[in-house]
Amino acid sequence: MVMKVICVKKTDTLKGNVTIQGSKNTVLPIMAATLLGSGVSVIYNCPMIEDVAVMCQLLECLKAKITMENHTLTIDTRNVQYAALPCSLTSKLRSSVLLLGPMLARWKKVELGVPGGCAIGLRPIDIHLQGFRKMNVDIDVQGDVVTGSTYYLQGGVIQLRFPSVGATENLIMTAVVAKGRTILRGVAKEPEIIELCNYLISMGALIEGVGTDILTIKGTGQLSSCDYCNTYDRIVAGTYLLAAVAIPSDIRLYGIDDIGYMKNIIHIVSDMGINVIKRDNYLSVQSFGKVSGGSFRTGIYPDFPTDLLPILITVLMQAEQVSRIEETIFENRLSIIRELAKLGATFDVLDRVVQTRCNYRLCGNTLVATDLRQGAALVIAGMMSEGKSFVTNTRYIARGYEDIVKDLQKLGANIEYV
Ligand code: UD1
Repeated sequence: MVMKVICVKKTDTLKGNVTIQGSKNTVLPIMAATLLGSGVSVIYNCPMIEDVAVMCQLLECLKAKITMENHTLTIDTRNVQYAALPCSLTSKLRSSVLLLGPMLARWKKVELGVPGGCAIGLRPIDIHLQGFRKMNVDIDVQGDVVTGSTYYLQGGVIQLRFPSVGATENLIMTAVVAKGRTILRGVAKEPEIIELCNYLISMGALIEGVGTDILTIKGTGQLSSCDYCNTYDRIVAGTYLLAAVAIPSDIRLYGIDDIGYMKNIIHIVSDMGINVIKRDNYLSVQSFGKVSGGSFRTGIYPDFPTDLLPILITVLMQAEQVSRIEETIFENRLSIIRELAKLGATFDVLDRVVQTRCNYRLCGNTLVATDLRQGAALVIAGMMSEGKSFVTNTRYIARGYEDIVKDLQKLGANIEYV
């Protein structure tokens, strides 16, 4: 794959319309869940991004037949066959870990290279493994391989030590076919979990408590394959919404059918003085590019999402007051400030808290993307800086944004691939 460099110039205003792509973090567990049925599943509004491409390759290793046309993904699991999934592929994607549950459900065994993904922190999988063990699975990590097996999956009572999104998804996908009843306590409640539960329910699963922190699941054996219409990507929408904090904007974000999943993000930008209004089929965003700062903290849903933290730090450089931003989920999210320093920005940092200063004069430079959301933040930082900036390592951005350059061009930004 040719790694394109993004060239971005100072952008004084954003004006235009863009349609928000389908959600990455929703579609990846749904793709894994198709293994729980033996049939053809059609997934509409699937984003055409690198992470989806890698998940397709992983499913193809299991002999699933896959086609993707115009954002419609078709997965045929009728003739799937067990295979060990190699580290060379699993290490490209954190969500490869989500195949553990469905593979155990389908074949009662699994051998999978350790998951990879963005370098935003340690990202252990102990919560997944502890949950599986409670469901009668003998599972462990040796070197760079996770190996698990079970005679039969048995439901049980599982208390998560932290509401991990991935562990919640894995354990739900296992419990829906396990023997008896499973009670999952302390689960994540992110919109992606609600979407997964509703999808599994349409496949025939029996799940109570959707959207709360206790799920009660009655195992039903095999499920029936089912279609799914993917929701919009709330983090991509949040990226463009946050750009309006730093750059005077009059933009419309289409494809946001229900703002429920974005309420937390909209609330925060509205408090900063951005005018956000939900119209019939779009979100209208207007700003003057000068906002008040404040104190912000990421957290589990419905708090402010950790994925948007690098973008929040970036745009708050343009706020009129000092801001304080605390990251509580991933230890490396603050690494963005090393790259922002190349533009002339300085921050006060203590542990996982960063404090912005005022009156930044940013000057374009060459910036290196090291993870998905940090990469998107650097693109926005380039739009806020005098002169030209170049963002390299854009393969990270391609993992989650279908085409950030095209989207921002539609919003009137001075941006292109070079
Ligand atoms: C998912 C999202 C990611 C988002 C994150 C938190 C996907 C594909 N990715 O990642 O975009 O930023 O949720 O909202 O949906 N942890 C453990 N042990 C475990 C599992 C997690 O200690 O077994 C820790 C992690 O290191 C991290 C925290 O729990 O500090 C949250 O991780 P988790 O919720 O599992 O995130 P992911 O599912 O990987």
